[in-house]
Amino acid sequence: MIMARSNKFDPDCRRCTRLAQFLDQIKIVHPEYLCRPVAPFGDVNARLLVVGLAPGKHGANASGRPFTGDHAGLLLYQTLYKFGFSDRPESLAIDDGLRLINCRITNAVKCLPPDNKPLNEEIQLCNSYLQQEVKSLAGRSVIIALGLIAHKAVLRALGLAFSHHPFGHGAIHDVKGNLRIIDSYHCSRYNTQTRRLTSEQFESVFQIARENLG
Ligand code: URA
Repeated sequence: MIMARSNKFDPDCRRCTRLAQFLDQIKIVHPEYLCRPVAPFGDVNARLLVVGLAPGKHGANASGRPFTGDHAGLLLYQTLYKFGFSDRPESLAIDDGLRLINCRITNAVKCLPPDNKPLNEEIQLCNSYLQQEVKSLAGRSVIIALGLIAHKAVLRALGLAFSHHPFGHGAIHDVKGNLRIIDSYHCSRYNTQTRRLTSEQFESVFQIARENLG
């Protein structure tokens, strides 16, 4: 029998056996880490949704907040602050009082994957949560997709074809109604340290979002 899946974020989700078992193993070594699906963070009525890949092992997977404790979060939170989407430039811990403004951050895959590489099947199984988050965007809204996997997950959540919306840093895709997707290279340590992504390039994406959202 096929069970209907709830689309609401489930902090106890174990849909992906490989990921659930991986988290169980990490929890034994690091009992102080969350080692569970990481919930979206920010304003529930936000009109900017930032979509990352998946929690980092010693970052979001430990802290329980997307991009928090992860190197990738340094540039992301700094940039959100610079463009008025956050009340401070750093995210330190889940209880640090940081407030996002008209912005919400989530991941294509809510659980830490081995080697930071979720399987296609896991991206698909997790996608109904993202679908729900995308659906809740009201009025004129912007999604910033960080990297190819996030971009594809957003298209899947919206039922759109990749062939019509290829990924590119700074690419803008106007889709359904009032929704605009803007792509960015992921702000990972690798991309920033190799300067595949500079802070100026990253900021230009948030500048577009700011101009769109007023
Ligand atoms: N941390 C997250 O929460 N997401 C990413 O994509 C990378 C690090």
